[in-house]
Amino acid sequence: MGRLEGKVALISGGAKGMGEVEARMFAEQGASVVIADILDDTGEALASELSSISNNARCIYTHLDVRHMTEWNAAIETTIDTFGQLDILVNNAGVTSRMMLLDTPEEDWDRVLDINSKGTFLGIKAAIPAMRISGGGSIVNISSQMGLVGGDFSSPQYQASKGAVRLLTKSVAIQYAAENIRCNSVHPAPIETDMTAGMRADKEKFADMTRRIPMGRYGKPEEVAYAVVYLASDESSFVTGSELVVDGGWTAQ
Ligand SMILES: NC(=O)c1ccc[n+]([C@@H]2O[C@H](COP(=O)([O-])OP(=O)(O)OC[C@H]3O[C@@H](n4cnc5c(N)ncnc54)[C@H](O)[C@@H]3O)[C@@H](O)[C@H]2O)c1
Repeated sequence: MGRLEGKVALISGGAKGMGEVEARMFAEQGASVVIADILDDTGEALASELSSISNNARCIYTHLDVRHMTEWNAAIETTIDTFGQLDILVNNAGVTSRMMLLDTPEEDWDRVLDINSKGTFLGIKAAIPAMRISGGGSIVNISSQMGLVGGDFSSPQYQASKGAVRLLTKSVAIQYAAENIRCNSVHPAPIETDMTAGMRADKEKFADMTRRIPMGRYGKPEEVAYAVVYLASDESSFVTGSELVVDGGWTAQ
């Protein structure tokens, strides 16, 4: 029996990177999965692959730009029309940026905050009414270790966007706890995905980054996905408002 048997999950940014690995693991654990992204071809291909190999789980792709409420409403409607319920929302879609504050154009502040923070808020707003009908649910928000502590290699807008996700999570956890809707955040340190490919390709930056991580290496997307499965499943039924670090010891320092 899978750890997510009978559950229906929507994963934003699920077409590639950590979202893709989460979609694979969710399907393996028996969940029906809605992959929601702006990468339509990649997302469609992944959904049909997972539908054919996973254990009774079903998987679909739907287009979703997390910046728009209308698109969130449509994605949730598609989820309900296809699977009849929504139990899990993973707010994973995100973008990064690396620059100093004085070099930051206003437009880049808006771009990063719109996707990472407002996108998460809109997803929660769209999902809660559907979760109420299911009798509860679990919301997992992907923040970052950069949402917990400062860092000179990131950007003010990325840090602010992920810090906002951290406290949005706690606000939602408290407001909806009585309705059995849980909300937790996950805080990965650098992980091997496209988002960090540039940093990993640069020898000096790679060495500088791994020096900051007590475990001395980047994390793998699977190591984050295991944490997300735990928070999404009933194994974490008394866990809400928490921040789970998956950071090789970064924030223990
Ligand atoms: N990789 C890391 O080191 C790291 C560390 C901490 C936190 N994170 C966070 O983890 C999450 C996943 O990152 P990743 O490393 O897999 O990155 P990635 O770039 O590989 O994947 C990001 C996904 O989000 C999607 N996306 C981007 N903008 C979108 C939008 N407007 N609407 C819908 N989907 C959109 C992309 O199409 C892509 O599928 C992000 O929120 C990121 O900030 C990443």
